[in-house]
Amino acid sequence: MELDRIKQVGIAAACEAGKVLQGHFGNLRSVQKKGAIDLVTEADLQSEKVIIETIRSAFPSHSILAEESGDQPGTGGRWIVDPLDGTTNFTHNLPMFCVSIAFAEEDELLAGFVLAPLLDELFVGLKGHGAQLNGEPIAVSQTADLTDSLLVTGFPYDHPMVIDQLMTRFERCLAVSQGVRRLGSAALDLCYVANGRFDGFWEQDLNPWDTAAGVLLASEAGARTTVFSGEPYWIDKNEIVCTNGAIHNELLKRLEI
Ligand code: IPD
Ligand code: CA
Ligand code: CA
Repeated sequence: MELDRIKQVGIAAACEAGKVLQGHFGNLRSVQKKGAIDLVTEADLQSEKVIIETIRSAFPSHSILAEESGDQPGTGGRWIVDPLDGTTNFTHNLPMFCVSIAFAEEDELLAGFVLAPLLDELFVGLKGHGAQLNGEPIAVSQTADLTDSLLVTGFPYDHPMVIDQLMTRFERCLAVSQGVRRLGSAALDLCYVANGRFDGFWEQDLNPWDTAAGVLLASEAGARTTVFSGEPYWIDKNEIVCTNGAIHNELLKRLEI
């Protein structure tokens, strides 16, 4: 597969979706609930529609897994799409949200595109070619000690079911770092590890569309990504830990329950 063409289409899809999200920001008409606190808006749906149309017109045979419309089987390549990561932020007029699009072939992530339209930041990662923010190469931080690190995490929508685990991990990590942030967009959390704003990220109960693009980007920027046991991460796993590598083992110790 020609990565140049994938890059062109991935960026075009992200930019079209970014325009849709910008248009809806601050003037949403409908916010529906998929669960008690899991929201979906017309912005999520229209963003997903333009992403799928853009991919389909370039690669009609590819499969697409998209958060709101599910799995469309196909051949020759697979796109994994979160049309709006950070919907809760979006509905509260917070600009920390993004479009996240990944491309994979035979269980290998090959490209990731994450656009935060209101922040004017486009992250692009291509397997074997590194990662960039707005065209400039990015790399993970060099922070060597957990005590000097800034961490980020997220809480799943079913948090009442796992609240003790979440709080135990949060408390332990807060105690040994310079701070733990909770931004509300897993894809941005991963991109911010990729460009060194954060030294480490962990979360549980995410979906493939939350992590696929960010994981490829982070890995191209030098990050290490595993599950809580230290085993390699794949996008169907239930847990993720992504760091600059240097603090990884120390962070894993704090996450072990
Ligand atoms: C959510 C965000 C959030 C994370 C949630 C995700 P959504 O995605 O990534 O940071 O904590 O678990 O579901 O619903 O805004 O696409
Ligand atoms: Ca998401
Ligand atoms: Ca979403």
